[in-house]
Amino acid sequence: MTQTLVVLGQGYVGLPMALRAAEVGIKVYGLDTNAATVNALNSGSSHIDDVTDTDLKAGLDAGYEATTDLACIASANVVVVCVPTPLSEDGGPDLGPVEDAAKAICANLSPDTLVILESTTYPGTTEEVFAPIVVGDQFGVGEDVFIAFSPERINPGDRVYGVRNTPKVVGGLTSECTTRARDFYAQFIDTVVEAKGAKEAEMAKLLENTFRHVNIALVNEMLRFSQELDIDLWNAIDCAETKPFGFMAFRPGPGVGGHCIPVDPSYLSHRVKAKLGYAFRMVELAEEINHAAPDYVASRIRSILNEAGKAVKGSKILLLGVTYKPNIADCRQSPADPLAVRLLSWGADIAYHDPFVTDWRPHGMDRDFRGVTDLDAAMVEADVVVLLQPHAEYDLDAITSSGAAVLDTQGVLAPNGTVDRL
Ligand SMILES: NC(=O)c1ccc[n+]([C@@H]2O[C@H](COP(=O)([O-])OP(=O)(O)OC[C@H]3O[C@@H](n4cnc5c(N)ncnc54)[C@H](O)[C@@H]3O)[C@@H](O)[C@H]2O)c1
Repeated sequence: MTQTLVVLGQGYVGLPMALRAAEVGIKVYGLDTNAATVNALNSGSSHIDDVTDTDLKAGLDAGYEATTDLACIASANVVVVCVPTPLSEDGGPDLGPVEDAAKAICANLSPDTLVILESTTYPGTTEEVFAPIVVGDQFGVGEDVFIAFSPERINPGDRVYGVRNTPKVVGGLTSECTTRARDFYAQFIDTVVEAKGAKEAEMAKLLENTFRHVNIALVNEMLRFSQELDIDLWNAIDCAETKPFGFMAFRPGPGVGGHCIPVDPSYLSHRVKAKLGYAFRMVELAEEINHAAPDYVASRIRSILNEAGKAVKGSKILLLGVTYKPNIADCRQSPADPLAVRLLSWGADIAYHDPFVTDWRPHGMDRDFRGVTDLDAAMVEADVVVLLQPHAEYDLDAITSSGAAVLDTQGVLAPNGTVDRL
């Protein structure tokens, strides 16, 4: 039984995991470098959509504690790392936060500790980058320190699958490391799956994300020529989905966003190129197509205005939902951002509405946009309304029947004389 757990990184991934462990009686320190985050957490205020203040208070009552003090690592039986893995300036992996976390662990580590990396990264990171820094020259992997990788599968906004009922893959650097990681998670997660090793666990996560990236790109590319061929791809997908085997439906959209899909497959393609010298062509193609999706939306908005005899310049365009997916507040890598930048470069008069985002600054803009509060009035004023994220709060029937010219990028509105699907 784990008595003390330290979770480095208290964001979308680390906080829900830490609270779930606290729920089963483990003493949990949520360690984060951001003092403001730590203070807010300890005062009962959650910054993560999926964790309510009530959930957080229950965790605090159960023994969860947020801290910036690295000294807590010395008391831990298990240390889990959930820090960001962004892209660097040149589009390659930026393992800076993972390396910083590993150094902090090394400086405070006690023998007989299990250390698990959860941050998404390319295969080989745990063995070649993370473990050597963690153990330094004082410990031996699989002897007095046990190291494993376990990919995080959290799906923000998902009301069905959470930490407890999402199966967890673990792969250690030795079989003893795998066994210890399995036994640790089995204390608070229903199903734990053992990978052959850390590399296979790392690859499993990248396979999952690349699968989504490639399939979204497939329908985004098909959408373009279907439109020109006068074929309703949305309807074709609905029909294909009736096949009970061998098909999984993906639907077009305004582009991919968030911390995972636009980032993680690049970790893999970069690794393949760096290590083997050739390209992972499926990922490169998916990136090209999905990154072009916001521009395609912009071109469809231009066509709608053109049909009405209007120029983009000076037209009022209202964006509904600027987060990267519905029902969360996360705007990281949201396709709304490049779309807004494109429309602004054409001289459009942009406004947005999002129940989760009060102020919004698209990349490179020198000012914040303030979200409109009176949605009905804004819809009446707009030359085009663009539904980007169908937050549950939106009354889709009301949008459909509003009479406004609407571009529906998610295929959730019934097309009529004023509503166009992407
Ligand atoms: N958000 C998701 O939906 C999701 C899903 C699956 C996997 N992941 C992966 O999980 C990892 C974490 O993502 P996230 O969304 O939770 O990030 P996040 O930005 O929400 O949270 C990361 C936290 O780590 C803290 N931090 C940074 N460096 C630190 C350090 N050295 N020590 C302690 N804390 C540190 C930051 O202050 C921040 O609070 C990433 O690798 C991501 O790719 C994310």
